[in-house]
Amino acid sequence: MEKLKSRILQDGKCFPGGILKVDSFINHQMDPNLMMEVAKEFGRLFADAPINKVVTIEASGIAPAILVGYIMQLPVVFIKKKEPKTMENMLTAAVHSFTKDRTYTVCISADYLTSNDHVLFIDDFLANGNASTGVIELCRKAGAQIEGMGFIIEKAFQQGGETLRQLGIRYEALATVESLDNCEIKLR
Ligand code: G4P
Repeated sequence: MEKLKSRILQDGKCFPGGILKVDSFINHQMDPNLMMEVAKEFGRLFADAPINKVVTIEASGIAPAILVGYIMQLPVVFIKKKEPKTMENMLTAAVHSFTKDRTYTVCISADYLTSNDHVLFIDDFLANGNASTGVIELCRKAGAQIEGMGFIIEKAFQQGGETLRQLGIRYEALATVESLDNCEIKLR
């Protein structure tokens, strides 16, 4: 998506350790016009897939996911990163965060992810694919089918894309970062 790519080149910042900061338009301050265009693009790319639910993970996935849900007129559920005391019929999965170097339990109510669901998973970044493998685990437990995954930005130098390809999961990224070496953003 050309508009996204030029915004990343214009406003994205490189941090040591291969981190791309997009805090001024995605991760902290958000640009609703750009986000709406992102959502429309996901809607276009997945128009042929038999999806009945959009799933994301808090926090940064929620903004694009709700707009995708609006565009596709589908319900949106977000996976929680803290186990609520009051959640009934909870499904859980362990997710290891590479960037934060800790493992945490993510959860979703089995009331909102069931064997009737055909899921489109939306998130901001595909990096090591840890969030994605957590979602795969939750869908497996629920008996839900993953029809596709959409990421705003993929970091091609980390292994998340390879993991999803090996699992045969269809995914789309709207911008792909080839390298952040020498603090220079190189997009595909
Ligand atoms: P994953 O995203 O593929 O699961 O892999 P990883 O474990 O490496 O990522 C952990 C967290 O760091 C994720 O967010 C992910 O979106 C974010 N992340 C990974 N690489 C980058 C990057 O280059 N730039 C930015 N801005 N974020 C990156 P999270 O911890 O779940 O946070 P949030 O969704 O609550 O913001």
